[in-house]
Amino acid sequence: MSDLALFGGEPLRRRPFPHWPVFDSAEEKALVDLVRSGQWWRYSMGEAVDPTGAPENIRSKVGEFQEMFARRQGARYGIACATGSAAIEVVLKAMGIGPGDEVIVPPYTFIATATAPMLIGATPVFCDIDLETLNLDPARLEEAITPRTRAIMPVHFAGLAADMDAILDISGRKGIPVVEDACHGHGGMWKDRGLGTIGLAGTFSFQASKNMTAGEGGLITTADAALAELCESYIWVGRKAGKPWYEHYYLGWNYRLTEFQGAILIEQLRRLEAQTERRRANAAYLSEQLRGVPGIYPLQVPKYATKHSYHIYVFRFEESEFGISRGDFLQALIAEGIPAMSGYAYPLYRNPLFAAPGLGHDYARYTDLCLNAERACRQMVWLEHRLLLGNRQDMDDIAGAVRKIHQRRPDFESAAANSVATR
Ligand SMILES: Cc1ncc(COP(=O)(O)O)c(C=O)c1O
Repeated sequence: MSDLALFGGEPLRRRPFPHWPVFDSAEEKALVDLVRSGQWWRYSMGEAVDPTGAPENIRSKVGEFQEMFARRQGARYGIACATGSAAIEVVLKAMGIGPGDEVIVPPYTFIATATAPMLIGATPVFCDIDLETLNLDPARLEEAITPRTRAIMPVHFAGLAADMDAILDISGRKGIPVVEDACHGHGGMWKDRGLGTIGLAGTFSFQASKNMTAGEGGLITTADAALAELCESYIWVGRKAGKPWYEHYYLGWNYRLTEFQGAILIEQLRRLEAQTERRRANAAYLSEQLRGVPGIYPLQVPKYATKHSYHIYVFRFEESEFGISRGDFLQALIAEGIPAMSGYAYPLYRNPLFAAPGLGHDYARYTDLCLNAERACRQMVWLEHRLLLGNRQDMDDIAGAVRKIHQRRPDFESAAANSVATR
């Protein structure tokens, strides 16, 4: 076996992995057709709740997309909006959440899960995750509930369903609604039900890194007609469908998705199922190949997670078992031609923004309360979903590079000794 590429050897692989986003003439045609139509903007208010409500029955691209997405995910209503962050903000506000209220969120997620509640005046309360799934740990949920808790917001992290039976049980007993942050969960399922359709509402993102994208974009799913209508109104600066244009009923935003994004997302959605199946097959194969390498632990996929959407492929890296640090491992893996990352450097509550004065909540205490999130930030290795769109050889290369680094791990000691000797 050749030397590690990190120390001047031949990289195991020079070929690039599949590029993201995947697109072809379908997206190009959709955009060109839209440009040529001159219909760069359309009134689609009302279409989220009543798809036949569009004036003269002309469907907007946004209306067509949100209906298609909702149907595919198994949701009654889909309300498109500008971003996944906006989707969370809008749905929480539509639930009547605001100043003085608390929303329970996991700390191992993207910042918007916590800042969306803050932007409408509410307080995110962090609940630790399960280290095997990286999802909110239901065993820790009840201790996070206070008389001010207004929502529980699990994240289906990386596209793996959270433990919804346990979460719904607590939600039912306490009378606190669940909003699913399904921003990683396009096409994913819990017990054969689409992610984002299990709680009161779900939120999705179509930002550039997501499993389907128009660069940016978001969507809310719900089965509650009144909630859907209010969400749509908040996205449309507080208007009501069919009412005068300059009549505003609520304090809302302009958080609309554009027709250009709608047109692209329709095409992206057509690719989703085949891509998800490919990611799942490759992920299962890769996990088989990686199991048995000391210190490498692909995440568990519990039985209830009937379809993992694999927004990210994650494995846990135990430094003491593998024999080198995660930092050295990642550098070596990248040098071998495998793009990999360490993910979040620290849990959300350790972001500087939570140290600002006047937040009225003690965020410093979570460092001692969320030990699994702390550990996840130190131990996880992430591979982007585009790598899983490759073939078996690509998966063999990933596993081969991991094994090569493990076999050559003594080289790190020699390199360290040499660098000390030459100092
Ligand atoms: C778990 C999670 N929630 C929310 C968001 C916010 O989505 P957006 O970037 O579209 O605002 C993201 C996006 O990165 C995310 O990963």
